[in-house]
Amino acid sequence: MLTNIEEIYRDALSELQNAGTLDDVEAFSVKYLGRKGLVTLYLRGLSALPPDERPLAGKRSNEVKIALEEAVAKIRTEMEAKAEGADEGIDVTLPGRMAAAGRLHPLTQITLEICGIFTKLGFSIVEGPEIESDYYNFEALNIPKHHPARDMQDTFYISESTVLRTHTSPTQPRVMEKQAPPVRIIAPGKVYRCDSDITHTPMFHQVEGLLVDENVSFGDLKGILTTFVHQMFDAETSLRFRPSFFPFTEPSAEVDIRCVICRGKGCRVCSQTGWLEVLGAGMVHPAVFENVGYDTKKYTGFAFGMGVERITMLKYGIDDIRKYFENDFRFLRQF
Ligand code: PHE
Repeated sequence: MLTNIEEIYRDALSELQNAGTLDDVEAFSVKYLGRKGLVTLYLRGLSALPPDERPLAGKRSNEVKIALEEAVAKIRTEMEAKAEGADEGIDVTLPGRMAAAGRLHPLTQITLEICGIFTKLGFSIVEGPEIESDYYNFEALNIPKHHPARDMQDTFYISESTVLRTHTSPTQPRVMEKQAPPVRIIAPGKVYRCDSDITHTPMFHQVEGLLVDENVSFGDLKGILTTFVHQMFDAETSLRFRPSFFPFTEPSAEVDIRCVICRGKGCRVCSQTGWLEVLGAGMVHPAVFENVGYDTKKYTGFAFGMGVERITMLKYGIDDIRKYFENDFRFLRQF
């Protein structure tokens, strides 16, 4: 008797595998599981068995019945799902879905714009490492150990002799060490200072500039920076050079531009002064030339460094520097 239900089960499984349509499945269901189906009849016939065989045969027959019912249900849903998909079809004439286009971060856009202006003025672009030695970040730039100027920049130290660069100026000695004058480079990149509030983030971006040749004067510096500001903002934006101090330039200046928001009348952005500071600059200090082996009698040069966040804020009227780094898509997609 037991072999019999196993035979029914085997036949049923191979028959179900060959079922190609919902109708086939229906017919199968009737043939095996219906009121007069093979499995049903078999179950009914169990009472004719000797009492000691009944429990085992009954158990096995019920297992087969449940297994077949489940197999039928499964294949039915699969077939129905397929049929639905076929009904919907694919309309190949419909326009495709647009992939969302990416875009450049506003800081990247402005960095590229700054680089573009200086490239047209004959500068080439170089990059230096963000993990920098104490030597290039400070010593080579005439900032010895224990010099008070080191406190101007809250440095992230990696070890005694290695720092996260606090400015892009270390690219100056790096380039000059390898290359004889004339030099005309700009160096964009990330810099780091241990500082964080509405106007400061621990990482920000600068673009460094350096030009060295015979007979380079402060007038050349003013000329280049004026051309830059006029191209970056507009020809009506005037500049102001204020005396300042950097250990690696002498004389040094901080450069302001006429407030691009109020045009000099005084507003919140320029703290009612009418001016906005955008960069630090000056004539390269002879000590820096000596460190890289340049002849200080023959060559002079100027250097400048600007903050990219600052210039981007002014260009787009952004009031909180932290917005750049939150990566909120609603903010970024505006640019
Ligand atoms: N490195 C200076 C700073 O980060 C800016 C600067 C660059 C000043 C070059 C003069 C010359 O503040």
